[in-house]
Amino acid sequence: STGSIILAGGVGTRLWPLSREQFPKQFLKLNGASFFQDTYTRALRISSPEEIVVVTNENFRYHVKNQVEELGYSIDDSRILLESEGKNTLPAITWGVRVLYDIFGDIPVAVFPSDHILDEKAMDIIKNSAPLAKKNLVVFGIKPTAPLTGYGYIKPGEALDGGFAVKEFKEKPGPEKAKEYMDSGYLWNSGMFLFSPEVFFEELKKYRPDMYEEFERPHPDYSGVESISIDYGLLEVSDRVAVVPLALRWNDLGSFRALYENSGKDDNGNAGDAEFVGSENNFVYSKDKKVAVLGMTNTAIIDSGDALLVCDLDNTESVKELVGIYASRG
Ligand code: GDD
Ligand code: MG
Repeated sequence: STGSIILAGGVGTRLWPLSREQFPKQFLKLNGASFFQDTYTRALRISSPEEIVVVTNENFRYHVKNQVEELGYSIDDSRILLESEGKNTLPAITWGVRVLYDIFGDIPVAVFPSDHILDEKAMDIIKNSAPLAKKNLVVFGIKPTAPLTGYGYIKPGEALDGGFAVKEFKEKPGPEKAKEYMDSGYLWNSGMFLFSPEVFFEELKKYRPDMYEEFERPHPDYSGVESISIDYGLLEVSDRVAVVPLALRWNDLGSFRALYENSGKDDNGNAGDAEFVGSENNFVYSKDKKVAVLGMTNTAIIDSGDALLVCDLDNTESVKELVGIYASRG
């Protein structure tokens, strides 16, 4: 058997105004099921419902419960780990590993972000990486398509059984480094992992002893926990990281540009439910309004009912700055 940890605590600021503090992107249903539901369904290919834990913010507890029930399963409260505040992915993952280890012992544990499009075939590859995960922290790599700066970059080294040793892991490099890495064969970190809990705890104890200790307690105190991602906190520093390449469809749906690229389009490259006249390559989403687009190109038009975003599709990464602007005005 294999355990699964689903990370569903992020806010997804680049999808404002659809993704909000009270309703973040992983729970949005843009075409049928939410990203969280898709992730849960995929996890069921390698784990039974008891073997799946969801780590999320206490505000999202009912989103998790309701959305799992909509899929026809029930999730016990002991499998929903509620964080009092977001402290990034290392504490969330540590908590999930601790809970699964205490119940099931040293079974392999997979980690899934809940904001990705992913080919289901990946689940077999992940499951079959269990032997490699007996000695290594396994990360799943994707061949880069552009020198994007929002990802971790992985340099594969010597071949191991079922993957490669990782020579270097660099989280979110600057644009020049990203280009250099891409040109020299680095892979992107998909954000999905497979660990043996015992290897994970050995490495955590070595590099983040305080975090290791905090999560030995039955009720970890989040206020004192360091806020850090697993990428900076463990994967950049550990020398026991291995990578398994995934040559499959994968997409981080972090921005409207990514959503646009993954949507069906008309002959003029327009996506979304709108009347398009003399317009090309636009992306429209509206909760309940009729939308008409005239003479526009390369624009995202997003209406959430109480807020409207109009944005150049080449500039959708900067949407996250808005959230800072609004927050600073209170
Ligand atoms: N429970 C919980 N608590 N979940 C969290 C928290 C938290 O405090 N912070 C983030 N998450 C969840 C997010 O909802 C998302 O599903 C996942 O953890 C990853 O967090 P992101 O904030 O989206 O990370 P990222 O996209 O900047 O970078 C990571 O993913 C990239 C691939 O998409 C890194 O692992 C990169 O190396 C990787 O390339
Ligand atoms: Mg992400």
